[in-house]
Amino acid sequence: MYKVAVIPGDGTGPEVVAEGLKALERIASIYSLEFEFREFDYGGDRYLRTGETIPDSDIDVLRDYNAIYLGAIGHPDVKPGILEKGILLNLRFSLDQYINLRPVKLYPNVETPLANKKPEDIDFVVVRENTEGLYAGIGGFLKKGTPDEVAIQEMINTRKGVERCIRYAFEFTKKRNKNNKLTLCAKTNVLTYAHDLWDRVFHEVASEYPDIQADYAHVDAITMWMVKNPEWFDVIVTTNMFGDIITDLGAMVQGGMGIAAGGNINPEGVSMFEPIGGSAPKYTGKNKINPLAAISAAQMMLDILGEEEASSSLEKAIIAALGEMKGMSAGSMGFTTSEVGDLVAQAITR
Ligand code: IPM
Ligand code: MN
Repeated sequence: MYKVAVIPGDGTGPEVVAEGLKALERIASIYSLEFEFREFDYGGDRYLRTGETIPDSDIDVLRDYNAIYLGAIGHPDVKPGILEKGILLNLRFSLDQYINLRPVKLYPNVETPLANKKPEDIDFVVVRENTEGLYAGIGGFLKKGTPDEVAIQEMINTRKGVERCIRYAFEFTKKRNKNNKLTLCAKTNVLTYAHDLWDRVFHEVASEYPDIQADYAHVDAITMWMVKNPEWFDVIVTTNMFGDIITDLGAMVQGGMGIAAGGNINPEGVSMFEPIGGSAPKYTGKNKINPLAAISAAQMMLDILGEEEASSSLEKAIIAALGEMKGMSAGSMGFTTSEVGDLVAQAITR
């Protein structure tokens, strides 16, 4: 039995999570799996009511779960940073989810803004470091609010953090066994300390994987190539902030936020799965938002839990649903949110 903590969160989070759970219930009945879902009400509404993001004692409660399934975090009435740091980043850091795994895969019948690119051209995975870099939250102000103000935000790169991320990426590339190519995305020409560490560790670990091509691209160049030659990429490993940026580009390339999912992975602990788009306040409660990213996140969860057969059957069902849909954006799918969820659930077979 899998114990799954469900955090629907803000905005359209609850609507899309409901469709993911619908798919998981159906998977459970077909594959004789058992899920115990427990909902946690973290998010903007709770914060506005109680001033609380996640109570510290809850982190230990969450440690006892097999996985966390998250909808969206972000509320128009809460100052940017509070919920992100207090909930999303807090979970990533406290549960040491040191990998953020973001597949960029164009499915058939999904429109990409890239001219003449087909599903066989767009199929790579970004392995984003998820607990360090510019996200570490270290820094401060000096003379705040004066003309002499100094604001410092430090970028943390630890040998341990860099190495475990790079090792994960090599293992992942090997297991994926597609083109056996791993690209390090960094900025070694400017960040001559931090990314020197990344580059050294990358090549050290690469020597243990002679069958994997160790490739390198600067972050600025990679944004060009993701648009011009996405077929060059198999797996990309990168730092937290660069990974954040290039995966939004990746999401567009694969057909939009409506379909992009991610996993915050602690390979030795509790992982958390989420659609990578935000809480989309303007679509909240309208039954218009695309739930496929959230359903894909549930599919990743199955995969990481080791239920590979169930995961690939859910992926097939997602592809089947895509065959019926008119578009990926909210309001132009040809179906409502819950109807898309029904299409997927009905398409799940053994
Ligand atoms: C993401 C988001 C988060 C991030 C924000 C909401 C803190 O953009 O998951 O990519 O920057 O990691
Ligand atoms: Mn982001």
